[in-house]
Amino acid sequence: MLEVYDSERLATAAPDEIGDALERGRIVKFFPCPIELASADALHTLRTELPRQLKLKNVSYHPEADKVTGLDAHSPIADLAYEVLSTHRDRVTEFLKKVMPTLARNIKVGTCSFRPIEEKGRNLKPHASNELVHVDAGAYGATNGDRILRFFVNVNPEVDRVWASKGDFPELFEKFGREAGLYEDLSPTLERGVLGKLRTSLLNGLAGVGLPLAPMLDSSPYDRVMRKFHNYMKDTPEFQQITEGHQTFRFEPFSAWMVLTDMVSHASVSGQHALVYTGLVKLKDCRLPELAPFNILRAAA
Ligand SMILES: [Fe+2]
Repeated sequence: MLEVYDSERLATAAPDEIGDALERGRIVKFFPCPIELASADALHTLRTELPRQLKLKNVSYHPEADKVTGLDAHSPIADLAYEVLSTHRDRVTEFLKKVMPTLARNIKVGTCSFRPIEEKGRNLKPHASNELVHVDAGAYGATNGDRILRFFVNVNPEVDRVWASKGDFPELFEKFGREAGLYEDLSPTLERGVLGKLRTSLLNGLAGVGLPLAPMLDSSPYDRVMRKFHNYMKDTPEFQQITEGHQTFRFEPFSAWMVLTDMVSHASVSGQHALVYTGLVKLKDCRLPELAPFNILRAAA
């Protein structure tokens, strides 16, 4: 499930090699981190101050609003967080377009976050917990079948970030889709009806009149099925305890990795201090669309 790229392998990768690996459900790891990071001083300040000043689950840069959430507006490190996260977002986007010219060509860049809290024993509510294995759903409003791409960097200078997975969407859907009740909600199109389209245009309209984050509230039939699967995984202790197909991965300090998180089930078992970039990749830019959850669900319908 893991593909590791050192500098040499990255330099000689074929144009669609890395994008295809993601579509096949691989976690693509880079060591060393292939993009320039903020200065050691800036990262040290964020690691020290963010755990104390955090107001939400993460500190996130939102491109639509061009601002950082999760911190008090008067926080003395608000400007630094803005600078580091917005710069990181631009660098990751540039890197993705270079190494995955097909898959990332129309990427919609989403939030860029710093996760400053130790993941192990965080005691979040189950649906918000990163410690439980799940696939992502509607992480960025309605995806309508587009793919959720996440790019992580472990910016903890001493401690690994540890992940777990129980496999990819095609196999998990085959094994657990019926028990999760997904078939009840499948329709051959999985596309929005008239009311759904009206809702989307209303939310987009609100974005234009000063509520830039309104589209995050949007949903679609596809996104609701994915949400149901996400919730089933997190709410089912028997699923969490299954050992068959369970794998763990260690990401050492200053390694980076990326994955289609709608495709690969994942949990952050432990680790503190990571940069997390989220982008939406167009389903029409996938070279292996038959492996995409949208088309697997549609075929099942
Ligand atoms: Fe996730």
